[in-house]
Amino acid sequence: MSKQGKINKITTSVIRGMKKKGEKITMLTAYDYAMASVMDDVGVEMLLVGDSLGMVILGYDSTLPVTMDDMLHHTKAVVRGTKNSMVVADMPFMSYQYSVEEAVRNAGRFLQEAGAHAVKLEGGREVAESIQRMTSAGIPVVAHLGLTPQSVQQFGGFKVQGKDDAAAKRIFEDAKIIEEAGAFSVVLECVPAPLARKITDSLEIPTIGIGAGVGCDGQVLVVNDMLGMYERFLPKFVKKYADLNADIRNAVRRYIDEVKNGSFPDEEHSFI
Ligand code: KIV
Repeated sequence: MSKQGKINKITTSVIRGMKKKGEKITMLTAYDYAMASVMDDVGVEMLLVGDSLGMVILGYDSTLPVTMDDMLHHTKAVVRGTKNSMVVADMPFMSYQYSVEEAVRNAGRFLQEAGAHAVKLEGGREVAESIQRMTSAGIPVVAHLGLTPQSVQQFGGFKVQGKDDAAAKRIFEDAKIIEEAGAFSVVLECVPAPLARKITDSLEIPTIGIGAGVGCDGQVLVVNDMLGMYERFLPKFVKKYADLNADIRNAVRRYIDEVKNGSFPDEEHSFI
């Protein structure tokens, strides 16, 4: 640990070790160099280049239009801003569904071309073979169960998953299957807190929750949500730690006023 309590260079074994020691894991999304370097510097263990990029940065209504090129471009920027955090690149819709071969090839691109340390993909038993092939190729994989936003059309909206016994059983079984396949961690999104705790207690690999209660081994949030920068939709599980939207509006309004009334630039900000 460094002075600020920051662990140096986060690897998959550090993440697994944190679960063993009962230390909570922090993950936040990152999409660019500037934000990644701040989050890396203050000690966030895992930076997820989420395909939430599509909604909070690129302005789409869902994550479905996000492409491999979009993800590679932003992953490269995040990697450039990172010294210690582990960078996890999200595999976009249709980059791993056609075939296991294509899934492995695309996952490999994130490590080889963008410098990511791991990839994340959504799904359970249906992606188990891909997870197994990726891990045997040396690509660390984070799985993602519960509300998997790329299946939003199938779910009929962003809804809590695993509420009835059959759905909870399926998510529980999927968690065991993806662990067996070689995933080193799993994101649990929008599942009831008791189910997330039960999965957490049954797995050796760490669970990272989002809308899944405090019983998970770690937590993840979309950084634009927790900083109050994305106003279109705020899920119940998001806690706003800042109100940057208001701060930015105020700063930009002041700039407009000062330019209009001639008080900017003043002497201090001019070459005389
Ligand atoms: O894309 C994303 O940001 C995610 C998180 C919500 C886990 O998958």
